[in-house]
Amino acid sequence: MAKPKSGSIVPSKETRLLILELANMLSVPMSLNAVVHLKVADAMWQDGSNTPLTASEIVARLPDAANADAENLQRILRMLTSYGVFNEKINASERRYSLTDVGKTLVTDENGLSYGAYVLQHHQDPLMKAWPIVHEAVLDSSTEPFVIANGMSAYDMYSQNPEMNKLMQQAMSGVSVPFMNAILETYHGFDGAETLVDVGGSSGESLKMIIDKHPEIKTAINFDLPEVLAEAPDIPGITKWPGDFFESVPNGDTLFMKWILTTWTDDEVKQILNNCHKALPDQGGKLIVCEPVLPPDTDDSNRTRALLEGDIFVMTIYRAKGYHRTEEQYKELGIATGFPNFKSFPYFDDFWTLFEYTK
Ligand SMILES: C[S@@+](CC[C@H](N)C(=O)[O-])C[C@H]1O[C@@H](n2cnc3c(N)ncnc32)[C@H](O)[C@@H]1O
Repeated sequence: MAKPKSGSIVPSKETRLLILELANMLSVPMSLNAVVHLKVADAMWQDGSNTPLTASEIVARLPDAANADAENLQRILRMLTSYGVFNEKINASERRYSLTDVGKTLVTDENGLSYGAYVLQHHQDPLMKAWPIVHEAVLDSSTEPFVIANGMSAYDMYSQNPEMNKLMQQAMSGVSVPFMNAILETYHGFDGAETLVDVGGSSGESLKMIIDKHPEIKTAINFDLPEVLAEAPDIPGITKWPGDFFESVPNGDTLFMKWILTTWTDDEVKQILNNCHKALPDQGGKLIVCEPVLPPDTDDSNRTRALLEGDIFVMTIYRAKGYHRTEEQYKELGIATGFPNFKSFPYFDDFWTLFEYTK
């Protein structure tokens, strides 16, 4: 028997299994992507009954799938059942599938939104091209793997490509709506706002939800890149304000910013926060921020994993030195940019933490 190079390391049965599981992990997101691409969740949900169906019955409901292979769909459904996306019932060797609560997040609502767009957004070809070279972010962090793979930044590419731009907005809206519903239920931080600016507001979906809940807000501004706003829908009560938050931010008594800072380096975050500081009045102004916030310790909970996985996504796609920060790091960045007061609301969501910066 050949002597292992690693000397006395003899992996246990459990270890041999775990490393193979990790090595094959790509099957999970790519199968999820296939399910969204095929519109499987809508097909299964069609009448709202979520009745367990065989793969053949699901295939018969799929759009554009006349020659589809039900056996191969069943292989995907089985694997994703083990990740909690589907329920499986076996009766006399026949397998039937229904949607779990996680699976239901892929069903499109009356506005065409679901978490499906987020899944598709993450697995577009230019993003996928960056993943085999994640190691480059370690060897030389001055250029992102996405830029090495595609010759331009992700946001530049979205701006130049209407389809990517649209998918990005759908992805943001699909994920934002459930989160915004959760915060608007109990958070009172928008009370008293008169001029509210959503900094990097994308489609305007979050801002719309805020003004629907707070009709007393007199002016609502969706501030984002010109190319993004050109694709964003016109929403009554919302003014689109094209611009670049590295240059300036429109004035308001309340600024809202969701899922922005994590993408950028510390210096860039300070630039954005400085511009927010300038846009707020000295008395009574408030910056409300929602960002993925890392717990200080590392464990194998779903929360820690989702946040750490998102951190690698940022490193690979957006900024090699942009990163998911801890609450303490956000507090420090606020202090460095003239916001000595920091209040955290970590309980609305397990992925995003909401915090308020005031002067
Ligand atoms: C991750 S998305 C978050 C969108 C939205 N806030 C949400 O949570 O659904 C980041 C947003 O920042 C915008 N953005 C990126 N760079 C920008 C810049 N320099 N100035 C203004 N907006 C920018 C993007 O166009 C995008 O809409």
